[in-house]
Amino acid sequence: MSDRKVFSQVTIDLMNKTDLPEILAIERESFASPWTAGMFSKELDSAHARCLCARINSEDESVVGGYIVFWLVAGEAHLHNLAVKKEYRRQGLAFVLMEAMKEIAVENKIVAQTLEVRESNTEAIKLYRKCGFVVKGIRPLYYTDTFEDALIMWADVKK
Ligand SMILES: CC(C)(COP(=O)(O)OP(=O)(O)OC[C@H]1O[C@@H](n2cnc3c(N)ncnc32)[C@H](O)[C@@H]1OP(=O)(O)O)[C@@H](O)C(=O)NCCC(=O)NCCS
Repeated sequence: MSDRKVFSQVTIDLMNKTDLPEILAIERESFASPWTAGMFSKELDSAHARCLCARINSEDESVVGGYIVFWLVAGEAHLHNLAVKKEYRRQGLAFVLMEAMKEIAVENKIVAQTLEVRESNTEAIKLYRKCGFVVKGIRPLYYTDTFEDALIMWADVKK
């Protein structure tokens, strides 16, 4: 995992169905068209999906600070969802989750990572560039809620 952890007690774990209430709250504060519980449950039941949580642990409690959902399919790691709770942003959590995706890709002998991102989402685009992604194409009107284009980004998987 990345050494850029501001939180001392962060663990990256598999997502459980019991995490869904916390995840859905983060989802609602993060996206105009949030995923539903059913959508997350489908990912959790899918053989090719990987669903991870960043947990922030203290003596008293463990809270979900963020999560990532991606697919390992056709030799590619394809990012499907990533969000960090507002109060924990800008502290490296998303970067650590992206590093976890890359590590799992390496373990599965996958050589490329890809994602789509709204062209207006400058924060996420900066994150992905920091993780080595470059824009390789555009999907016109990909987002049906806002009729926005998606940037298609790719990164090689390097150890
Ligand atoms: C995008 C998002 C996941 C970033 O999470 P985060 O934990 O705050 O990101 P990190 O702290 O790991 O930031 C890593 C890098 O991303 C970039 N970045 C992240 N947030 C940024 C912001 N608000 N402004 C500018 N750059 C930003 C920076 O390059 C940053 O590196 P730096 O801190 O060294 O400058 C978070 O803002 C979020 O949940 N947004 C809403 C959901 C979303 O848009 N998800 C992505 C869908 S494609």
